[in-house]
Amino acid sequence: MKVVKILPIILAALLLAGHSVARAACVTADCHAGLAGKSIHPGETPDCGACHIDTEDKHAKGDKAPPALKGGMCASCHDDVLKYQYLHSPVTAKNCHLCHNPHGDLERKLLPAGYSDQLFINYDKESYKLCFSCHKRDLLMFPDTSYSTEFRNGMVNLHYLHVNKTNRGRSCKLCHGMHGADQPKLMADRVSFGNWRMPVGFAKTETGGSCAPGCHEPRLYDRKAKSAPPPPPRAPAAEKTK
Ligand code: HEC
Ligand code: HEC
Ligand code: HEC
Ligand code: HEC
Ligand code: HEC
Repeated sequence: MKVVKILPIILAALLLAGHSVARAACVTADCHAGLAGKSIHPGETPDCGACHIDTEDKHAKGDKAPPALKGGMCASCHDDVLKYQYLHSPVTAKNCHLCHNPHGDLERKLLPAGYSDQLFINYDKESYKLCFSCHKRDLLMFPDTSYSTEFRNGMVNLHYLHVNKTNRGRSCKLCHGMHGADQPKLMADRVSFGNWRMPVGFAKTETGGSCAPGCHEPRLYDRKAKSAPPPPPRAPAAEKTK
């Protein structure tokens, strides 16, 4: 997104902010001094009122609770996040702040510290804390399972197989769209793989699914399967081209 392209939206958002208060009024020696000189958001820093609203000026009158957050405050500028056929549940509810904290770590797209940008991660119990603040880590804890995840072939846990590796496990975002996707189960159509947008080729079936990604032959998984597990995916070093 180019700043120039959305500048009118920013101006409109600020105008529409109505009773909401400006940055200078909020950040003084006595109030929110910690935010002085700090960027709240990458690029253009929106006024406090772009996200917080206080129509009755309650806050100014001494109410200690922070002014309410505007519904859809982030999506009014970032509507591209909503373009998918299937949306991740907190995105549907426009609860962006459950993952992004505008007053948090600016280096990492407003994500909690420690959320890695990498596609391959040496897995440990701290990895993907963000996802496991809502989901059960069980989904990748056991090599064999009959319940902890639907991503399994018979009893073979394919989340464990792909992600739970101390040497270059696969990141969630290698398969899932963080905000949404045009295939079920938030399965991304394509993922960035170096300079290559690698197709994932996911298709869902009644009891499983299949993938035809660039990094291995098309594979089927079936929760009702009794057969032996598929061989593990090839080592990342050999995955580059296809
Ligand atoms: C880009 C949107 C955005 C802008 C701009 C913004 N805030 Fe916030 N603010 C939020 C969100 C979202 C939360 C809730 C964070 C959470 O619950 O994790 C929040 C929470 C707060 C809180 C509660 C304490 C905290 O840190 O969680 C205070 C106080 C606050 N904001 C003050 C301000 C002030 C003062 C400004 C202007 C200088 C400002 N905010 C600008 C989005 C914004
Ligand atoms: C008034 C418009 C506006 C609002 C409201 C707004 N943003 Fe932004 N956001 C922008 C602009 C402009 C940029 C800079 C875009 C760029 O440089 O490509 C940006 C950048 C970002 C980035 C970094 C993108 C990157 O690639 O590093 C994130 C993450 C982000 N915003 C999240 C949020 C969240 C979460 C909220 C709500 C709490 C929010 N924004 C509210 C306009 C807005
Ligand atoms: C379930 C957690 C989650 C929710 C909810 C969420 N995001 Fe994100 N968002 C992420 C992650 C993770 C990334 C970084 C992806 C990466 O590492 O490339 C991201 C990246 C971004 C970026 C940077 C550009 C990009 O797509 O990488 C923007 C802008 C953004 N989010 C806006 C939003 C807005 C607006 C909402 C609410 C409508 C929202 N996000 C809700 C997890 C979330
Ligand atoms: C704020 C809470 C929250 C966070 C954080 C979160 N999710 Fe979710 N996610 C949900 C909810 C709610 C659902 C829908 C109910 C369910 O399936 O558990 C969901 C569903 C999913 C689904 C299944 C979608 C479907 O169609 O069945 C996937 C895949 C997923 N999340 C991946 C992730 C990944 C990857 C992360 C980390 C980047 C993450 N989630 C972080 C709340 C969250
Ligand atoms: C190799 C691709 C791949 C990776 C990597 C991956 N997933 Fe999944 N995930 C899937 C598939 C495929 C499904 C759909 C299973 C089904 O319903 O058939 C799924 C389903 C899910 C679900 C729905 C509940 C369940 O377990 O069936 C959640 C939540 C989820 N994944 C979270 C995550 C998180 C969090 C990560 C990173 C720690 C991750 N996934 C990494 C492919 C992947």
